Amino acid sequence: MTILLEAKDITKIFPLDKGRKLKAVDKVSFSFSKENAKILSLVGESGSGKTTIARMILGLLPPTEGNVYFLGEDIYLMNEREKKEYRRHVQAVFQDPYGIYNPFYRVDRALELPIKKFKLGSSKSEARDMIERALEAVGLRPRDVMGKYPHQLSGGERQRIMLARLYLLKPQLIVADEPISMIDAALRALFLNILLDFKNNYGISCLFITHDLSSAYYLGGEVIVLYKGKAVEKGEVAEVLRNPRHPYTNLLIKALLPTDPSKKILTSLGAEIGLKDDNSMAGEGCPFAGRCPKASDICNKEVPLPVKINENHEVRCFH
Ligand SMILES: Nc1ncnc2c1ncn2[C@@H]1O[C@H](COP(=O)(O)OP(=O)(O)O)[C@@H](O)[C@H]1O
Ligand SMILES: [Mg+2]
Repeated sequence: MTILLEAKDITKIFPLDKGRKLKAVDKVSFSFSKENAKILSLVGESGSGKTTIARMILGLLPPTEGNVYFLGEDIYLMNEREKKEYRRHVQAVFQDPYGIYNPFYRVDRALELPIKKFKLGSSKSEARDMIERALEAVGLRPRDVMGKYPHQLSGGERQRIMLARLYLLKPQLIVADEPISMIDAALRALFLNILLDFKNNYGISCLFITHDLSSAYYLGGEVIVLYKGKAVEKGEVAEVLRNPRHPYTNLLIKALLPTDPSKKILTSLGAEIGLKDDNSMAGEGCPFAGRCPKASDICNKEVPLPVKINENHEVRCFH
């Protein structure tokens, strides 16, 4: 088995004012194989370090410690030619890709450019066919969107054109940072189904970033639950949800159940934590200790090491 991409103990420390530092991401590791495409979801609340991880993976932000390897090469030590290859094979999907479109050009251009740049088609009519197939693959009718300007499309349509662009490029990995949080509920499942289709039919893996455990569950595959930059639990998403071992994962699962009164508790705890917790590097110990119903002395003193529950599941919790 060849490892396509590996994040090894990636850590990001941001300097704050007055010499303080923020450990936004703390020794997070995961990998994707080249042969078996998979979806890996990173789940955590706002500020847990998800976007920082995405930026480190995309080559936009060098880790303070740890490395990102693509086919065995450290992406931050690549030469220009290797970097270009990397950018071709690892593509990002943004929340609302409005920003990547030039408002003065018809959206067709967003699809024509990659064909030109990577010489995917040999003639104009071949390019046209490829674009039509790509649009159909993401559930758009070419005649509904071709020839339009970005502002004439809905957010969901712009999102899907972005996916059609990826369909043309056929990257090996898609990094999608909260891609569905701005589109309406009806279109979310459609978007997730396209990612599943990409994985199942074209072997395209996805690092799917979300604050919503239910979309991770829908996608299946693996999950890493992040809390304050640390991976507190990871494993196969079905197994982790069936048998959550970390109190924070439990809290997230309870929050999924709409009738559960603990949803209110989570919200109020979340608000409280947002105010009083600066996420700074000061105290050691479990990142969740201050909020955890099970916390004991050791939780405030030591960082729990990962404990294997089984082949597909590990947790960092003393309890
Ligand atoms: N460039 C930066 N400088 C300082 N702090 C940052 C920077 N980028 C992100 N952070 C902080 O790092 C933490 C994680 O941020 P982020 O990765 O955006 O979280 P998420 O995407 O999970 O909401 C937050 O506390 C955020 O304020
Ligand atoms: Mg984010």
